[in-house]
Amino acid sequence: MTTSLPLPLHSRGKVRDTYRLSERELLMVSTDRISAFDVVLPTPIPEKGRVLNGLTHGWLSETTHLIRNHMAGDQSIPQELLDAEPDLRERAMRVVMAEPIMFECVVRGYISGSGWKDYQRTGSIAGDPLPAGLKESDRLPEPIFTPATKALTGHDENISRSELARRTGEELAQTLEQASLVLYQFGVARALERGLILADTKFEFGVHEGDVILIDEVMTPDSSRFWDLEQYRPGGPQASFDKQYLRDYLEDLGWNKQPPAPPLPPEVVQGTSGRYLEAMRRLAFRYAAARP
Ligand SMILES: Nc1ncnc2c1ncn2[C@@H]1O[C@H](COP(=O)(O)OP(=O)(O)OP(=O)(O)O)[C@@H](O)[C@H]1O
Ligand SMILES: [Mg+2]
Repeated sequence: MTTSLPLPLHSRGKVRDTYRLSERELLMVSTDRISAFDVVLPTPIPEKGRVLNGLTHGWLSETTHLIRNHMAGDQSIPQELLDAEPDLRERAMRVVMAEPIMFECVVRGYISGSGWKDYQRTGSIAGDPLPAGLKESDRLPEPIFTPATKALTGHDENISRSELARRTGEELAQTLEQASLVLYQFGVARALERGLILADTKFEFGVHEGDVILIDEVMTPDSSRFWDLEQYRPGGPQASFDKQYLRDYLEDLGWNKQPPAPPLPPEVVQGTSGRYLEAMRRLAFRYAAARP
């Protein structure tokens, strides 16, 4: 489940193993690891790394008119690395090294998950008041930007937009909000064409040569909630292509969400893998064919 390439390791996250290719470039490898409630599970999900990398590649390729991103111009992968990991071509991306901006830029177009919990308690999300009487999974009057801190350890913490501006400066906060909203709108339109609702998503940005650029994974089932348009029924939770299926299984199991996480039975592995693949199939980026 972990890769070990003959390159210096830059970092090993919950899902991605990142290596240094040169002074300015990283090789980000999406593994089949899956995390839930911020804990990595002991069982890998076949095809997941390929799906995450493929979707990110597709979105990054199609949004360059909206914002610069970290994908390197040259995506060829040295042969000795391919020899070490045969399916690397489909799971790895060459990216320019950026200085990560340590906030998660969340956009929500529908009310779900922690946003729904917040709304039920306070009538607002992250301090933004919302109309009364919204049902779970309802579409919001307009998409909202709800940033969170990127905690190095432990859980991320939601912060208000004014708190973000206090921490980053007004100008950078505006840039992050605008870029996130524009990217989300692009994703929503694209997903709808394919019969999917992109309910919410999370972007990360970094600074490269003085510019704010889009980094990390983009609009994947790990960073987003995708719902099936045909099955969409507001008034409760929705069947989704993301980790919700796995979270529901773990909730039913009664696991206390502290490591170590329990191993997953084959049917849950299959169910999760199938959902990731279905999201990729629906979004249908011409990914693999375009690679060298
Ligand atoms: N172009 C880039 N330059 C530098 N760092 C990047 C770049 N793109 C993504 N990253 C960072 O690489 C890591 C990707 O690994 P992964 O997503 O598995 O980590 P993670 O466990 O989610 O940790 P984190 O909470 O930091 O995201 C993230 O920390 C992300 O911020
Ligand atoms: Mg991450």
